Amino acid sequence: MSDLLLADDPLYEELYDVRREAEAMRNYVAEDQTDAIARLRAQAPVHAGSLRSLLNLPEHERHPLAIGKPRFCALSFDACEEVLRDSKRFSSRIVHHPNPGEEKSMGVLEMDGPEHRAYRRALQPIFLKHNAEVWWRHGWIDKTVERLVAGLKQRKTADLNLHYCARLPVHTITTAIGLSGDAALEFRLAWMKSGGVGRVPPEEQRAAAQQVEAILFALIEARRAVPADDVITRLMASELALPGEPVRKLTDREVMLNARLIMVAGGGTTWRQMGITLLGLLSNPEQYAEVCADRSLLPLAIEESARWCSNSGLFCREVMHDTELAGVFMPKGSVIELWLNAANRDPSRWDHPERYDYRRPVVNHLGFGIGQHRCLGLNVAHQEMIAGLGGLMDAFPNLRLDPDYPAPFITGGLEQRGPSALRVVLD
Ligand code: HEM
Repeated sequence: MSDLLLADDPLYEELYDVRREAEAMRNYVAEDQTDAIARLRAQAPVHAGSLRSLLNLPEHERHPLAIGKPRFCALSFDACEEVLRDSKRFSSRIVHHPNPGEEKSMGVLEMDGPEHRAYRRALQPIFLKHNAEVWWRHGWIDKTVERLVAGLKQRKTADLNLHYCARLPVHTITTAIGLSGDAALEFRLAWMKSGGVGRVPPEEQRAAAQQVEAILFALIEARRAVPADDVITRLMASELALPGEPVRKLTDREVMLNARLIMVAGGGTTWRQMGITLLGLLSNPEQYAEVCADRSLLPLAIEESARWCSNSGLFCREVMHDTELAGVFMPKGSVIELWLNAANRDPSRWDHPERYDYRRPVVNHLGFGIGQHRCLGLNVAHQEMIAGLGGLMDAFPNLRLDPDYPAPFITGGLEQRGPSALRVVLD
């Protein structure tokens, strides 16, 4: 197994410190905006303008196709849900990154309707609950947790954000795809650079994008020669049934695109979400003790963390024809921002929504999305967090926040959230 998993590599801090990540992405927001967003939501569920413009914050554009288009933002649960469930009126194609010669760049994430359904059906078996609980757990997650916990046992204190949460998902996804664990940070760094993160000059961006593709195409070639029991081999064997076309396998480019999406979605989300769950539990020690004593509560604790603060705060859709949302007229071609964390703290749906409380009545939230694009990796993310949090609870029954450090808080950009740090005492 990879040595990088436990190494003191400075790249962990460069890539997996929430504040540094946001600064590199140029969307860091220093002041907490929760109250200002709540005031806007109380005024109206949908506003004309981007949320950042309404909060007087600098704009941050993730989607090149959205540049220059009229913008709206949805802040209530009902408005966000209505958009997420209606891909005829509100299209995901806005997330496409135009690339010369590339019809698609973001795999299933940028598709709608029957095309999306067909590709999603092809990928779905890899992520079914049973596969997450058995194949992913036995193949990659449990071994990674075991080694990380053994590493922590050599210490009395730790920053669980950097020493634990950062490492488990990126090593799981890298090795599950079929790469060596030692490639985990190289791949993530190249991906971040390819998106221009960290003020990378354009030629370096292009080289990084090619590096990401080259890594995955080389893996596809290797598995064509010698198949293995991993995600890339299963993607290569997946059957695609597009309406009106004969059933076929995915092309190498389609395998590469969706493998890249899976690597990126898996290597940068569960990290922050596991940290948010730990922050919620450790800041409420009586809830931590209850979950420690009864591990069947872990899924509730994880779902409440995704409700309380989803690490992925913003998704966008393109308006496909003139329409109204919550009484606001939106012209065809405009962009609607869906602020999941505003929706998940909608007081018309949750009492004291600002509190982390896994005991609250279970109702749908939007932390993993909803509708056609609901997180495909949800079961895997759950299993990583169940194994990861359970492994910590088994090994360190007295785990607590380190009183020698300031209390951790949620930080980052509005678009991606995570804990400032997770300094703990282990023994
Ligand atoms: C706790 C961690 C995670 C959170 C909060 C999260 C959240 C989300 C959300 C909100 C969406 C919906 C996007 C939209 O509606 O446009 C989504 C989609 C997706 N997620 Fe996750 N995700 C997480 C972990 C993962 C993991 C571990 C994987 C892969 C192993 C993954 C793979 C995907 C993929 C492939 C999609 C696109 C699905 C589609 O377009 O049909 N996610 N995720």
